[in-house]
Amino acid sequence: MSETAYLNGEFLPIEQAKISVLDRGFIFGDGVYEVIPVYSRRPFRLAEHLARLQASLDAIRLVNPHPAPKWTELVGKIVAGNPWEDQAVYLQITRGAAKRDHVFPKGVKPTVFMMASELVPPSAELVKSGAKAIVLPDRRWLRCDIKSVSLLGNCMLRTLAADQDCAEAILVREGMLTEASASNVFIVKDGTVLTPPKSHLILPGITYDVVLEILRENSIAHEVRPVTEAELRSAEEVWVTSSSREVLAITTLDGKRVGSGQPGPVGERVHALYHQYKAKVMRAPIHA
Ligand SMILES: Cc1ncc(COP(=O)(O)O)c(C=O)c1O
Repeated sequence: MSETAYLNGEFLPIEQAKISVLDRGFIFGDGVYEVIPVYSRRPFRLAEHLARLQASLDAIRLVNPHPAPKWTELVGKIVAGNPWEDQAVYLQITRGAAKRDHVFPKGVKPTVFMMASELVPPSAELVKSGAKAIVLPDRRWLRCDIKSVSLLGNCMLRTLAADQDCAEAILVREGMLTEASASNVFIVKDGTVLTPPKSHLILPGITYDVVLEILRENSIAHEVRPVTEAELRSAEEVWVTSSSREVLAITTLDGKRVGSGQPGPVGERVHALYHQYKAKVMRAPIHA
């Protein structure tokens, strides 16, 4: 089976999908996106991803081109048109093609694009060993809550991490932890799980919400509150969370061991509970 994409009303092989060079997504990065994990061909937390998409669109004054049932149908068709059981469905909406001018143009048709790739969770070895990360100043803009396609800041930070053979760059702004270049961050300090609250400085992660639900439901001590760089650097455990990384322990930070240098007990428990939750949701009857 070849890879199927979707562009402005049409399903087609990805190599045939073409857009105008005047598209504002190309010229200005004027667009938003979502990445929806799909397990055994069933989208995970689709309603939440579509709600975050709506929030991103509202923030940049772009009208949602489709109601939720239509998105559900389109996501279903992309999933059916691609070969993998587990997929990451990428969808992007840009403001469309218009004469280059910074001001948002009126009456322009948005560009709607979707594609899928195989969703490969972190390997068993990586989960067992944990990953390496570096700490960097968060030099991105101040609307990190918008899932904008303008990801140059994130790409620069992630590349600095990759240069040092690290999986992530964990970011601090004015002495406070924000998130990582492509994930949210949780730490364990004196036995309590800590994570920064949602604000314009972080992306409201869907996995972040799932992890907080798991902590609540299992009475695992936690606090959502600002976290200092000093707390991050002296934490017993550090984890990053995202749809593709799930709950992944960071065991080396700036070349130093985090805690014992092995994934810690709280993170291991939450990782196991996350997998239980995923399995339960995937077994539940499908409803609209
Ligand atoms: C900057 C950033 N923060 C957090 C996340 C985690 O979001 P989610 O859990 O919805 O994948 C992502 C995901 O790509 C991200 O790019």
